[in-house]
Amino acid sequence: MHLLKTLLATAVVQQTVAIPINPEPSLLLRSFSLIERGDPPPQCADDAATEEQGCFTLQDASNKDVRFALAPGQSFDQGIGQGHFSKVAHCVLKDGQDIAVKRFLRAPENYREVNEKSFQFLKELEGNEHIVKAFARGIVQGKVALAMELAPDGDAESRKMQGEFKGKENEKKMKDVGNQILDALAHMHSKGIAHLDIQEGNVVFIKDTAKVIDFDYALKDTKYRNSVPGGDGGDAAPEAFRGDDSSDSEELELTWEWALNRQIDVYANDVWTTAMMFIRMTTGQGFPEPGHFPNSGSERMVEIVVTDDANKRVEEIKKEWPDFSQEFAELLGDILCEQDRRMSMREFKEGFQDVTIYKCSEE
Ligand SMILES: Nc1ncnc2c1ncn2[C@@H]1O[C@H](COP(=O)(O)OP(=O)(O)OP(=O)(O)O)[C@@H](O)[C@H]1O
Ligand SMILES: [Mg+2]
Repeated sequence: MHLLKTLLATAVVQQTVAIPINPEPSLLLRSFSLIERGDPPPQCADDAATEEQGCFTLQDASNKDVRFALAPGQSFDQGIGQGHFSKVAHCVLKDGQDIAVKRFLRAPENYREVNEKSFQFLKELEGNEHIVKAFARGIVQGKVALAMELAPDGDAESRKMQGEFKGKENEKKMKDVGNQILDALAHMHSKGIAHLDIQEGNVVFIKDTAKVIDFDYALKDTKYRNSVPGGDGGDAAPEAFRGDDSSDSEELELTWEWALNRQIDVYANDVWTTAMMFIRMTTGQGFPEPGHFPNSGSERMVEIVVTDDANKRVEEIKKEWPDFSQEFAELLGDILCEQDRRMSMREFKEGFQDVTIYKCSEE
C-alpha cells in the first residue's frame, strides 16, 4: 500500500477504536484504545480558534492542518524538556491524544530547514518502534516546531543518573535498553541516515520502551564530514577531535595533531558515540572531562585506538574496565579502534544481542 494510504488507514483505525461512543468513556473502553486519548482540549473546540485562544496549528506530511493545545499546566517555556536549541512541551491534539511539541528558541530562518529535514527523516523511519514518531511540523507562535509522539517517562540521562543501568545487578535492563537503541540505529543506518548526536538526552522512554529523538544533526547518504557535534570537546570519536585552541595542554595538542584533517565517517562516529553512551550507562558516569579518559581527546584513548593488534586493544580495554567480560571487551575492541576497521552498527546490534557485559566472579 502507498505510505500515505497506510498512514491514513492507520489513523482511521485508531480513530474508530479510540474515540468512545458515549460522552463519558468508561475505563474499560479507554484501556482498549490503541492510543490513549484524554479529554479533547476546550481551546480547540471551535475550528476557528486562534493561537491567542490557545489552539495551535501545524501541518502533517500531506500538509493538512493538525490542531492542538498545551496540556493543562504546560507552557512552551516551562515544559517537559529542553535542549540547547529548543524547549519541549506536553500538548494535546484536538482529538485528545497526548503529544510532545518541540519548539525552537531562535528565529525560524535558522531552523526551518533543519526541522523539515528532521520531520522527513522521522517519516521515513516510521516503521521502527524505537524511533520517535513525528506527526506534524510548522510554526507555533512565530517559532519553528515539531509535533511528535509523547515519551513521558524520562530520558536516558535522568535514568542513568538514578543508576538504573548501573552495574551487574542492572545488566538485564541495560541489555534490554541497549538492544532497543541498537535496533533503532541499525535501522537508521540501513536507510543511509546517520544520527550524529547520539547521547543519553536523545533517548526518551514510554514506560521501558526506548525511543531515539533529535534528528537535528542527522544526515542522509553522506559518509564523510570534516566536523561532527561533540568533536571539539572529545565527546565524539577520536578522529573527530579538533582540539581546543584555548587549551595549552600538550596531551590535547598531540591528539589534535593525530585527528586533524581526517575525514570523519559519520556512520562509524555513530557507532563510537553509541558504545561510549553504553559505557556511561553501565558505569553510571557522566561525560568525562576533556582530556581525561575515556574522553576521545585523552592520550590514553588515542593510544588504545591506534593499536593495530585487536588482542592488545582488548587487553587495554580490560585494564580500564576490569568488570567487563572478555566477550564485551572484545566487542568494544572492534569499536574503540580506527574508524576504517570499526564494526558497523548492524554488527554492533548483532554482537550486543548475545553478549554478557560483566564477567562472572570466577573469570
Ligand atoms: N517526544 C518527546 N517526549 C518527551 N520528552 C521529549 C521528547 N522530545 C524531547 N524531549 C525532551 O526534551 C529534551 C530536548 O529535546 P531535543 O534533544 O530534541 O532538543 P535539542 O534542543 O535539539 O537538544 P540538544 O541540546 O541535544 O541539541 C530531551 O532531552 C528530552 O528530555
Ligand atoms: Mg537533544
